[in-house]
Amino acid sequence: MALFSRKTVRNLSTLPLFFIVLFIFGITLLVIVKLDNLASQTKTIIGHNLEPPPWHSFPAKAFTNETKIGRASQIVRCSYLSCFTKSNNPQPTVTLQPEKCPDFYRWIHHDLEPWSKTRISYASLMEAKKLSSFRVVIINGKLYADYYYDCVHSRAMFTIWGLLQLLKRYPGSIPDVDMMFDCMDRPYVQRTDHSAIPLPIFRYCTTSEHFDIPFPDWSFWGWVEVNLGPWEEEFESIKKGSQVINWENKYPYAYWKGNPYVNSPAREKLLTCNDTNKWKAQILRQNWGHEISNGFKHSKLSSQCDHRYKIYAEGYAWSVSLKYILACGCVPLIINPQYEDFLSRGLFPKQNYLPISPNNICPAIKNAVEWGNSHPSQAKAIGKAAGDFMKEMNMERVYDYMYHLINEYSKLLDFKPAKPASALEECVDSLLCYADESHREVLERSTAFPSSTPPCKLPPPNGEMIKKQIEAKRNIIFNKTQVIN
Ligand SMILES: *[C@@H]1O[C@H](CO)[C@@H](O)[C@H](O)[C@H]1NC(C)=O
Ligand SMILES: *[C@@H]1O[C@H](CO)[C@@H](O)[C@H](O)[C@H]1NC(C)=O
Ligand SMILES: *[C@@H]1O[C@H](CO)[C@@H](O)[C@H](O)[C@H]1NC(C)=O
Repeated sequence: MALFSRKTVRNLSTLPLFFIVLFIFGITLLVIVKLDNLASQTKTIIGHNLEPPPWHSFPAKAFTNETKIGRASQIVRCSYLSCFTKSNNPQPTVTLQPEKCPDFYRWIHHDLEPWSKTRISYASLMEAKKLSSFRVVIINGKLYADYYYDCVHSRAMFTIWGLLQLLKRYPGSIPDVDMMFDCMDRPYVQRTDHSAIPLPIFRYCTTSEHFDIPFPDWSFWGWVEVNLGPWEEEFESIKKGSQVINWENKYPYAYWKGNPYVNSPAREKLLTCNDTNKWKAQILRQNWGHEISNGFKHSKLSSQCDHRYKIYAEGYAWSVSLKYILACGCVPLIINPQYEDFLSRGLFPKQNYLPISPNNICPAIKNAVEWGNSHPSQAKAIGKAAGDFMKEMNMERVYDYMYHLINEYSKLLDFKPAKPASALEECVDSLLCYADESHREVLERSTAFPSSTPPCKLPPPNGEMIKKQIEAKRNIIFNKTQVIN
């Protein structure tokens, strides 16, 4: 009896403990399973759980955190636990009068014109979603992102970083907005195919035959994979590098260095002009594999301004190289491009570059070089105008472009933007949480601060003026009877 009761007592005291342990174990297991599910369903800015887009495939990325638990905990930490700290951006004291925006910012109205009457419905945005790699919704100054497809390299991260910096630069001034982005190179929404319902998609370039809305590309904040820092740093170093040799003493021929194998007819033809005597051009191949393994010793842009003429040839679509080429202050020889990025609309032939016919590349380069060498003061002035143009396109102006584009676009939405159920907040901390060391360093260097001046003043719409400018450009570029003089 005594034995029996002792046993009962022991059982009674150990039983609850056993259940408590079991309970804690069960809860932990449940939490782990839940978190694992959450992590395996969460799409991230660096492409976890995302496929490359079907319209432009590229090799899927390998992620550094290969262990399942490491990945899951990184996703939970970065995506769900990063954006709690309240950012109390000090409201800047806006004192100065706004400056005038560059005249070509008028193109913002032109790019948004397809929706000026019909406006943008939620339904057409959902159609646009099918062609987008991510979506950005801004509500009350907070940014939410939804990811549909992976982006090559760190394009998504640097593009969203740029938007977060815009929010920091103009706190309280960015309207609520819902935007679809595609991060691949070529415009996709053909005007002929989508004339009934134009689909609004932001990307880095467009053409006159597309509805795609050009937006400043990621490289303004840096392109780590090819060793490019933030635009402001690159501009300063290119300018310094260019001043090492004055224009008269630069090599009196044209220079191009890049990757010719990007499915670009212009670049392929350019390879045949590699003869400084016959065609007055030096064409060099950029071997990125080699550069990456050698610490980018031979791809420094600041040491590529030693020639009087620099050739721009677009790549698979527009090329980010345009701004670096113009920044040299040498005479840009632009092979008449098919694609436009947001800033190339500010270029005008014979004012800040010389046009090169894509049908006749080598002789056209030779002609341009010979003209420039025999008209040095005019040629120098064109080079200077190109350098000045890029000097004006500093980050303040890039943010102003984004500001006005988003602002004008938001006025066209005929619905009230709301956070999509699947979107997560992105903030500076969540991006830095996902960034690896090399990305983080460049991101931090391109941090923006609240502006003490309001955004520049946007010129009013003037479709006639844009039409006339396009015609004037065309006349200069295609007027075969007219030789450069
Ligand atoms: C991998 O995940 C662990 C655990 O969250 C984290 O500490 C580490 O920084 C991650 N590594 C990388 C390279 O992101
Ligand atoms: C162009 O010619 C130079 C000198 O002959 C040569 O070093 C270079 O590799 C050539 N470029 C290409 C793309 O073949
Ligand atoms: C070509 O240029 C000349 C001289 O500037 C001009 O008179 C002529 O109208 C132009 N032709 C075309 C087709 O634009």
